[in-house]
Amino acid sequence: MRIVVLTGAGISAESGIPTFRAAGGLWEGHDVEDVATPEGFDRDPDLVQRFYDARRRAAASVVPNPAHHSLARLEHAFGDDLLVVTQNVDDLHERAGTRNLVHMHGELRRALCAACGARPVWHTDLAPRPPCPMCGARRLRPDVVWFGEMPYDLDRIEAAVAACDVFASIGTSGAVYPAAGYAALASALGAWTVELNLEPSDALVPFDDARTGPATTLVPAWVDELVAVGNRS
Ligand code: NAD
Ligand code: APR
Repeated sequence: MRIVVLTGAGISAESGIPTFRAAGGLWEGHDVEDVATPEGFDRDPDLVQRFYDARRRAAASVVPNPAHHSLARLEHAFGDDLLVVTQNVDDLHERAGTRNLVHMHGELRRALCAACGARPVWHTDLAPRPPCPMCGARRLRPDVVWFGEMPYDLDRIEAAVAACDVFASIGTSGAVYPAAGYAALASALGAWTVELNLEPSDALVPFDDARTGPATTLVPAWVDELVAVGNRS
């Protein structure tokens, strides 16, 4: 049984990282055009660097929750038959032990050099701009995919979505494409689809199973069910 799990900000909410679109979320206090577009970065790079420096520090100060840990347990049971695709830029999945993981919107713990394309691991602030360790240019930016930019690893993700038997969407509002289209693609190609979210999302097509509640409750219970099915087959 091949499984693809798509995660969004909701899976990290109970670790203490705010989501984007909720009241009090990250997009309430910031204009997306200013901090999450290439044009915003060109206008005011220091503002953007400070925004992501704060996100990087916040991510480093929290720990994975039972939802992240249970997905690592799912990988232990299913091995390479599980791919976790996250829209999150924190590193809580890998710190929980997930290895088969795609960060489609990039990672806070890497910088991206706009001059040479290097993506060095980066744990400290990017403001004021330090030199790139590979080429020396002072053109480092967060390795985060902004609106209007191409997400990472789309070919790998789409191949896995097209081939999966079970597709799960966890803690994502379904507001941002292409991620928001994957459940419909998986469903059209015959996969069983399930949503685990605090509230019903803006799904294009209904999920086969839609469960509402906090991820730290829903995800461990769902993983238990899948592991039991896997053990029987
Ligand atoms: P878009 O043209 O902005 O995005 C196109 C592509 O960029 C998509 O494939 C998307 O996956 C990708 N992308 C780039 N940066 C991203 C990021 N940080 N997070 C997620 N995906 C990213 O098209 P759209 O998504 O339809 O958005 C249209 C515009 O609406 C945006 O440019 C933005 O200004 C605005 N918007 C506002 C909010 C908000 O909460 N206020 C949310 C989403 C979009
Ligand atoms: N458990 C489960 N779901 C939760 C929890 C929780 N404890 N808390 C919140 N949620 C749900 C919300 O109900 C919402 O549907 O998580 C979802 C979070 O949605 P968004 O804030 O829109 O975050 P996300 O879907 O990850 O955003 C997608 O938008 O701006 C971009 O790059 C950004 O990757 C991000 C993308």
